[in-house]
Amino acid sequence: MEKMEKKEKIILTGDRPTGQLHVGHYVGSLRRRVELQNSGEYDKIFIMIADAQALTDNADNPEKVRQNIIEVALDYLACGLDPEKSTLLIQSQIPELCELSFYYMNLVTVSRLQRNPTVKSEIQMRNFETSIPVGFFTYPISQAADITAFHATTVPVGEDQMPMLEQTKEIVHKFNSVYGETLTDPSILLPDNKACMRLPGIDGKAKMSKSLNNCIYLADSADDVKKKIMSMFTDPGHLRVQDPGKVEGNPVFMYLEAFSTQEHFERYLPEYANLQELEDHYARGGLGDVKVKKFLNNVMQEVLEPIRNRRKEFAKDIPAIYEILKKGSEKAEAEAAITLSQVKRAMKINYFEDAALIQEQAKKYAAEQ
Ligand code: TRP
Repeated sequence: MEKMEKKEKIILTGDRPTGQLHVGHYVGSLRRRVELQNSGEYDKIFIMIADAQALTDNADNPEKVRQNIIEVALDYLACGLDPEKSTLLIQSQIPELCELSFYYMNLVTVSRLQRNPTVKSEIQMRNFETSIPVGFFTYPISQAADITAFHATTVPVGEDQMPMLEQTKEIVHKFNSVYGETLTDPSILLPDNKACMRLPGIDGKAKMSKSLNNCIYLADSADDVKKKIMSMFTDPGHLRVQDPGKVEGNPVFMYLEAFSTQEHFERYLPEYANLQELEDHYARGGLGDVKVKKFLNNVMQEVLEPIRNRRKEFAKDIPAIYEILKKGSEKAEAEAAITLSQVKRAMKINYFEDAALIQEQAKKYAAEQ
């Protein structure tokens, strides 16, 4: 019933703490989260550091997860997530999520999980083959618990999370049809620009990943950012400046599409009105990679410098960051506990608060005597 009265707009999203966050996370989700936070349109915002999920494929490396909690938290704060407006929480500190997952497991089949494209491709990527940990195999169910525990209406994530959202929606529909309207059906909120959905690595590979060593991190120094940009993969057929170059699939241009604005052109490259003009020139021939990369470096330094500086400021008081996470986790747990009690009531496993049940059973036995 509480749910029907609520027409709140609630955000939940998060990241696995397996490394520092990079510019792919930034354009794919972080930047959007901060805009949504500051829009004032949302009643509640929950940002989760998904350590329990990170452990589903790092069970033998808890130290990695432990070390990266603070890295992710610093990246969040540096980007402008404000603990006064957004609740920052650590997944493992909310035991209600495990209970919800346990009950949702009854509503999902093995074959449905096997068809989950994310699980499928990650199994391949990690060489899990047939020896997948059960926890990893079922993490889409635990992600459904993350989302539903807070009655999230909106989940801002990258395109790669689409299968997770579909799985969550299925669980919500199934739960509500079996046990009655209880859970909130969430919507995914994707980046509006194609380059932001899938920012490639600096080597041109489709995915930015720590192990491929092809990421630009939010915490990278100005020098490192510059070095990485100047070494970026471009069109391998663009050998001489006068040669026509390929814009499509060229990481340098994808980064410009994700990061550059009209003002950047006015400030750093006024001889071009906009990105389209620059791309046209590159495609025609006569525009060198170095010039484009220098522009990209100016753009990215402008975006990343304030983030880097704020990160350094926050890093001066690490105990305060843990305190923010502790408070956030406590607040989040209180919310999840409400949802869990709604779920248990719907599933009829709320015996001790069900006076009618106790009476009914008493009557049954009284009649027998
Ligand atoms: N699976 C997400 C990732 O790999 C992290 C995550 C965990 C998440 N729980 C979530 C994202 C709930 C959105 C909603 O980045």
